Amino acid sequence: MEEYGHHVRFKELGTKLGIEPKAMTPENKTPLSIFGFPLRSWTGFCVIKLLADLGEILQVEDLIQCSFHPLRNLARMTMPEERFHAQFGKDFCMDLCSTETGRQGVQDAIDRYFPILPAFFGKSKSQNNEIFRKWGIKQRKNEEMREDYLVQARKVVEGLDLQLPTL
Ligand SMILES: [Fe+2]
Ligand SMILES: [Fe+2]
Repeated sequence: MEEYGHHVRFKELGTKLGIEPKAMTPENKTPLSIFGFPLRSWTGFCVIKLLADLGEILQVEDLIQCSFHPLRNLARMTMPEERFHAQFGKDFCMDLCSTETGRQGVQDAIDRYFPILPAFFGKSKSQNNEIFRKWGIKQRKNEEMREDYLVQARKVVEGLDLQLPTL
């Protein structure tokens, strides 16, 4: 519900600014959303909290320094919840890893979910990102954030004595 709340919060700001989501037509690509991927198990949920929320933290950390204060304030409000989600993911994955079957389940979910996550940082050499950085809305290039994410995700996964799949 908190994640859903994040979507609502950020969309409300867009609406106030007069920005409406693009209609979903075959010409418009569907926005990438973690809700668009099937979630079948508790283990899958914990792994999403472990790895997708790590990505969310990087995104929100970037926005906390945003030059547009309404967006910066939303990011500040959201950050404690993202930290809680990521810690929740770590704690419950660690619990699951205490049995061999649980460990295999967590590794299997990592293998399934991890490959979809780097795309959430957006295209490399993105023109939108260049404009956002010029305006001070974003601080880092998409590819820099993605690079950082890959390093941190590896650390988290290897910390559980598991492996990050090769992309
Ligand atoms: Fe979120
Ligand atoms: Fe989250």
